[in-house]
Amino acid sequence: MRSKVTVVGAGNVGATTAQRIFDKGYADVVLVDIVEGLPQGKALDMLEAGPVTGTDAKVIGTNGYDETENSDVVVVTSGIARRPGMSRDDLLLTNMKIVTSVVKEVAARSPNCVLLPVTNPLDAMAQKAYEVSGFPKNRVVGMAGILDTARFRTFLAQELNVSVNSVEAYVLGGHGDTMVPVVGTTTVGGTPVSKLIGKERLAEIVQRTRDGGAEIVNYLKTGSAYYAPSASIVRMVESILLDRKEILPCTALLEGEYGINNLFVGVPVKLGAGGVEEVFEIDLNDEELAALRKSAESVQELIDVMAAAV
Ligand code: APR
Repeated sequence: MRSKVTVVGAGNVGATTAQRIFDKGYADVVLVDIVEGLPQGKALDMLEAGPVTGTDAKVIGTNGYDETENSDVVVVTSGIARRPGMSRDDLLLTNMKIVTSVVKEVAARSPNCVLLPVTNPLDAMAQKAYEVSGFPKNRVVGMAGILDTARFRTFLAQELNVSVNSVEAYVLGGHGDTMVPVVGTTTVGGTPVSKLIGKERLAEIVQRTRDGGAEIVNYLKTGSAYYAPSASIVRMVESILLDRKEILPCTALLEGEYGINNLFVGVPVKLGAGGVEEVFEIDLNDEELAALRKSAESVQELIDVMAAAV
């Protein structure tokens, strides 16, 4: 039997994610949105690509949740996206309400699924999804680190004119202005990146990575990125459904790791059939560890704003 993945939100990120998963063929997909006709139309359009791409999986669109029953993974992309001049944090209270209502619906119908929040501000939304679902911590894991790391690797590969596959890197911390591209452990073909790129230029690349989302928003003007985000989501879905146990930077609940407690923050985790199977504590220098903790503090500030609003 094929696996089942629900994607809530049939906008840019959700629909692109559904399409990528459907194209792979190993999971049936349910696409949910509140806008009438939108998920149905997009899902039917995707389904009709099946004979051309050779995909036998099913994809359906709906405005309800009954069809989502017993999903293996539920991806939550519903919510508003940023526009030029907005930070991810500006989306907090609107998206908190949307994520809360969506997670109640999906958790009731798929009590054993892995919940994969994507809606921004991501770390706060993952925390909310964890709280509302009542799921164990290993079954709530947010997408951000793979995307931020992909941006970092793209810029480093461009700079050095090498394949992106030869750049090993991690971006940790909250998915926001305080994210931590970990330069100390970044290698290119096994060589520390600091030996290949000068300090000042590296700092510029780190900053461009932090601003990577805003750079796209400023081009698009009416929305935010979705090709790299959806590719990052699918990497996680695949590691879970195929039990690949990849070690990927994802947003997970920390309980003491890196000296951070009861907060969802981006760290390397082993992702398999059980969701987060292990949190990895990589070697960080004092400066990087301090930056990670500072980033966690800014996630905590958002959690406090949410708590005060309810
Ligand atoms: N239930 C279901 N769908 C909803 C709900 C809800 N309560 N509220 C909003 N939606 C849907 C919208 O109708 C829209 O189709 O969520 C979709 C969001 O799509 P876009 O506006 O295209 O936004 P997108 O670019 O996909 O980003 C979605 O992911 O990366 C993050 O910051 C981004 O928070 C944003 C989210």
